[in-house]
Amino acid sequence: MLVSGNGSNLQSIIDHAEAGRIPATVACVISNKAGAYALERARNHSIPNTVLDHRDFPDRESYDAAMAGILRENGVELVALAGFNRIVSKVMLDAFPLAILNIHPALLPAFPGNHAQRQAVEHGVKIAGCTVHFVDAGTDSGPIIAQAAVPVFTSDNEETLSRRILQEEHKIYPEVIRLYAEGRIRVAGRQVLISPAHEPDGRFLENPPL
Ligand code: GRF
Repeated sequence: MLVSGNGSNLQSIIDHAEAGRIPATVACVISNKAGAYALERARNHSIPNTVLDHRDFPDRESYDAAMAGILRENGVELVALAGFNRIVSKVMLDAFPLAILNIHPALLPAFPGNHAQRQAVEHGVKIAGCTVHFVDAGTDSGPIIAQAAVPVFTSDNEETLSRRILQEEHKIYPEVIRLYAEGRIRVAGRQVLISPAHEPDGRFLENPPL
């Protein structure tokens, strides 16, 4: 997994994997920030972890090549970005074709980029949420796999909304990884098809109580 900060999504995925709820393990954690709390979470679970500081590389491509090397050495089959604050280049996309996921705290294609929750509050939307999508060359623009929705109240600010969205992130990200590990995700253009079509427990769009 690729991280830069707190790593609560990483924690949720580790917990699901350790509890046997997803047929996958977190093979390694790479952070571009030395002080990221996510690294401590990895250490707490004896997961190989590395700091790869982008400032030590002349360009995005050489950084990504080094990253792809570490991921391959650790036998990674699926790369999951969780709060990783860097754009990945063609080098990574070619190294892991249709095998890089990201979670974004908005109902894409609304509010891509930074401060999505703040944008949602400022825009006055009534429903916000989160999206797990495949990573492509754009910013938060790849095919959408799963979304969960939450209500936005007039009393909300960026922090309260972020907290509500994060609770849903912690559910849908492990769920998508489970589906991926089970070989049930297929991409046809922008459409992501999950088989079988009816997922009794699935929460690909979770409606908020209104
Ligand atoms: C999450 O809100 C995620 O959607 C966004 O960055 C945040 C990461 O949180 N990409 P954490 O580091 O997983 O706690």
